[in-house]
Amino acid sequence: MEPLKIALLGGGTVGSAFYSLVLERREDLAAMGFVPRFLGVLVRDKAKPRPIPEALLRTEPFDLLEADVVVEAMGGVEAPLGLVLPALEAGIPLITANKALLAEAWERLKPFAEEGLIYHEASVMAGTPALSFLETLRGSQLLELHGILNGTTLYILQEMEQGRTYEEALREAQRLGYAEADPSLDVKGIDTAHKLTLLARLLLDPDFPLSQVEARGIEGLTLEALRAAEARGEKVRLVASLYGEGGRWRARVAPVALPQDHPLARARGNALLARTAPLGEVLVIGPGAGGGATASGLLADLFRFLSGAPGHLPASRKKAPPSEGAPFPEVE
Ligand SMILES: NC(=O)c1ccc[n+]([C@@H]2O[C@H](COP(=O)([O-])OP(=O)(O)OC[C@H]3O[C@@H](n4cnc5c(N)ncnc54)[C@H](OP(=O)(O)O)[C@@H]3O)[C@@H](O)[C@H]2O)c1
Repeated sequence: MEPLKIALLGGGTVGSAFYSLVLERREDLAAMGFVPRFLGVLVRDKAKPRPIPEALLRTEPFDLLEADVVVEAMGGVEAPLGLVLPALEAGIPLITANKALLAEAWERLKPFAEEGLIYHEASVMAGTPALSFLETLRGSQLLELHGILNGTTLYILQEMEQGRTYEEALREAQRLGYAEADPSLDVKGIDTAHKLTLLARLLLDPDFPLSQVEARGIEGLTLEALRAAEARGEKVRLVASLYGEGGRWRARVAPVALPQDHPLARARGNALLARTAPLGEVLVIGPGAGGGATASGLLADLFRFLSGAPGHLPASRKKAPPSEGAPFPEVE
């Protein structure tokens, strides 16, 4: 039995759930020949209640070069980047749920992703397969992709369908802990744009820039717009899309009108729909947030690493769209 030394950055919603899940799944790790040992868990405030023994908590960065694997669940960009880069440079793999880090600091991280050192299933749709789903689709050509990738905006839109205004629905989402005090990343479509960028890099172009995603959020949506859509037999959803337009890929995040019986409109959770050839149309639906759901994605990556498989490799080359797409109409 080999010790598996884990450095955990972040002990909040996701980090705490990951810590607990690793202990719960010790037998599965033992069956692979490993005994997990946490070297430390980086947090800001040791006094906050969490299911992690105080002896493991660190408020100052600790030596990550001792670790076999670094698991990052801190959030943000600059702070985690400064911590994970030296570890990656030393060849230590990184498992992360942080889509902002990957989307925004790609220039620094891409060489390590290409070496197979970065595992990030949990960065899109939490533990619901999104990256591994797309990896399997590499056997086909992507024609078009549409996804509901943000739970907070989905909740707000579903509440608005029940008659709440945008402001009321947002306040309720904040009260329930679904939305941050500053909800901008979610409601402006930036979080969804981060995720769409990661999907595009996996399938279409290893250098796909975040700036190529046109993002519009749900802030300006009125109850009237939703009611008008309903009268036409449609539902409004914040949809991330990749489709061919004029011979190049267009990447768009926007509130769009979907026919009410469309699988994306009927999905209760996050959803990703891909039209591919020769495989055809495929759909995955599942939770896209929450401590346990995200920890499940991180643990899947830990198993992937321990099985000897590389992290999520970017696309091997830039590809042009094979056909023109049929995007959903935007809702103003
Ligand atoms: N929550 C979800 O459902 C979800 C889903 C998918 C992906 N993610 C991603 O997972 C990551 C973590 O999300 P979360 O919801 O777990 O956030 P969170 O609850 O705010 O946890 C963040 C953790 O990191 C620590 N931390 C943050 N900045 C730090 C710093 N500069 N120095 C030391 N410690 C620091 C915090 O310490 P304190 O506890 O002391 O404040 C906290 O333990 C984010 O990248 C997020 O986008 C989250």
